[in-house]
Amino acid sequence: MAGKGWCMALVVKPIKGTFVGEVDPIDLRSVDDGTLAELKAAWNRYQILVFKGQKMDEPDLVTFSQRFGDLEIHVRTEYLSREHPEILYVSNMKDETGRAIGILSQGEVGWHYDQIYLPRPALGSFLLAHTLPKDRGETSFADMSLAYEQLPQGTKAVIEGRKAVQSYEAFNSAYSVPTDKKQTKKTPDVEHPIVRTHPMTGRKALYICPGMTTQIVGLPEGESRAVLDELFDWTVKPEFVYTHKWQAGDGVMWDNACTMHRREPFDENQQRLMKRTTILPPADLAVPY
Ligand code: OGA
Ligand code: MN
Repeated sequence: MAGKGWCMALVVKPIKGTFVGEVDPIDLRSVDDGTLAELKAAWNRYQILVFKGQKMDEPDLVTFSQRFGDLEIHVRTEYLSREHPEILYVSNMKDETGRAIGILSQGEVGWHYDQIYLPRPALGSFLLAHTLPKDRGETSFADMSLAYEQLPQGTKAVIEGRKAVQSYEAFNSAYSVPTDKKQTKKTPDVEHPIVRTHPMTGRKALYICPGMTTQIVGLPEGESRAVLDELFDWTVKPEFVYTHKWQAGDGVMWDNACTMHRREPFDENQQRLMKRTTILPPADLAVPY
């Protein structure tokens, strides 16, 4: 006999071929081990999982996320939940003292991979919609595995074996606020392979993004810029992109080894609060290759 929790086979509705699966119905507060194994397989298959109508509080969010790996305490400690530092607030809301409680406010957030700027980037992120503006603030995701697979052979040859520079500072100056001294020291520019092999599936993906990738190592500046611009245009073609229109209670879990994302701006007079956990890979799979 099955114990407490969901014991039915997982129902996943594909949204865009094998990119994005909507999991329905499921209560993420009570997932049994068998269902968890199915969720992990579905996450690898679809890269992005969408869960509607969740009722998780902060401890539930932490407990569920931890079943996928250790959680990162984000470098922007001023935007962490006080009670649960594994949770990063993404928000334009302010506390009673007028201090911003979250990161990224209400402006446009350009295409980026979470944590591509770290030597050991995160495996995934789980974003839970708590408070939403009445419209806009959608989040789009790009399938960087398919984008790589469909690249012209000539372009694949140009980037083969090459690395690119990833800069958190470049992202912050365009879309966020600067890091403080201590945070800046923890996040110097890093180099990663442009074509990343997924640590779980072995599938290759383009590991670059307009918001954080500044330079292809070993190419002259002009050529590097031209190749990056070509790749950036290519990866955001509509056939590679899914746009999520949020409803309160939605949880979206994305794979940080093969998807990048961006956010639409929204009205500054409206409130938006999203709660994010960041899932680390196992230590032996932590460095991109
Ligand atoms: C993030 C992020 C976008 C959004 O949490 O990493 O980029 O929709 N969020 O708030
Ligand atoms: Mn992000």
